[in-house]
Amino acid sequence: MNVDAKKTVLRMIPYGIYVLTAEDGAGNVAAATVNWVTQTAFAPPLLVVGVKTDSGAYKTAAKSFALNMLGKEHKSLAFTFFRPTDVADGKLSGQPYRKGTTGAPILIDAPGAVECKVTTVVEQGDHHIVVGEVVEAHLKRPLAGRPDTTILEMKDLGDNVFYGG
Ligand SMILES: Cc1cc2nc3c(=O)[nH]c(=O)nc-3n(C[C@H](O)[C@H](O)[C@H](O)COP(=O)(O)O)c2cc1C
Repeated sequence: MNVDAKKTVLRMIPYGIYVLTAEDGAGNVAAATVNWVTQTAFAPPLLVVGVKTDSGAYKTAAKSFALNMLGKEHKSLAFTFFRPTDVADGKLSGQPYRKGTTGAPILIDAPGAVECKVTTVVEQGDHHIVVGEVVEAHLKRPLAGRPDTTILEMKDLGDNVFYGG
């Protein structure tokens, strides 16, 4: 295989940018900016996330997690959660949040979020596929136009930011 072609071709896949958050039931909280996300079923509503197995988020999101949608204006928020999370003064890496029904932090600034119960983890490769059933949805305010025009995308983060390839 031509590894340069593999990298370029895989980087043709368009991605939205999300913050995965979780609370493990023992008070440990994690958050990570992720892009390997898609819905995979209507009934029940399922989505999958590719989660790095050596990340704090992987262990913390073993049972449930929230996926916070980032808006076009949240570029700096995406960069905040590329780094390990700290919880101080009731904020998550400086960001205000509230607790969702699964215990996962819901970012106040996110235009929308869903909460999921983990149904399966496909253990292959350096990221595992975490399958979640959507059990709760939060919409900050009604959206004008197509919902997918609201979301921050990988290409909005700059010419040299990729995750994939
Ligand atoms: C552009 C970009 C996209 C990322 N996408 C993912 C992803 O889809 N899944 C994932 O597990 N980590 C992803 N990461 C890495 C996490 O953001 C990072 O591991 C995490 O925030 C740091 O937490 P940790 O110290 O627990 O690993 C991405 C990083 C970057 C820079």
